[in-house]
Amino acid sequence: MSKYNWDEKHIITFPEEKVALSTKDLHVYYGKNESIKGIDMQFEKNKITALIGPSGSGKSTYLRSLNRMNDTIDIAKVTGQILYRGIDVNRPEINVYEMRKHIGMVFQRPNPFAKSIYRNITFAQNVQELRTRKSLMKL
Ligand SMILES: Nc1ncnc2c1ncn2[C@@H]1O[C@H](COP(=O)(O)OP(=O)(O)OP(=O)(O)O)[C@@H](O)[C@H]1O
Ligand SMILES: [Mg+2]
Repeated sequence: MSKYNWDEKHIITFPEEKVALSTKDLHVYYGKNESIKGIDMQFEKNKITALIGPSGSGKSTYLRSLNRMNDTIDIAKVTGQILYRGIDVNRPEINVYEMRKHIGMVFQRPNPFAKSIYRNITFAQNVQELRTRKSLMKL
């Protein structure tokens, strides 16, 4: 087997028009603990990217930062840039609810709201005010 330099950084970059989402020098701290230490990464449009790493290495922390779910953790602090189509999602004027329509997460385990399963399943339609069967038929 040829010698492999594990210390060498292998960063693949794509032309700007092929990038859906990217992070630049992203750091995430929980209090004094720095869990994410300056990640530069690009996610290519229309492709699936896998993040692999040992338990506790920061995969979930990194993913949570992409649509600002770390905002809800009091001790979490995020620095650096997260760019979605060139827009920094951490800009204060960003409406996080609108942004999350573009950058969502499918969780490992289903986490229903404290409502009936029926109301969970029909939640999105209700939010969109498609309450009646008639309006659903128009789709
Ligand atoms: N809410 C939190 N408060 C404080 N520390 C946290 C919090 N969430 C994660 N951490 C710490 O941040 C580090 C990274 O954790 P994270 O859950 O992101 O790892 P992971 O790669 O997703 O692990 P796993 O493979 O087990 O899911 C760990 O040291 C963890 O203890
Ligand atoms: Mg995890």
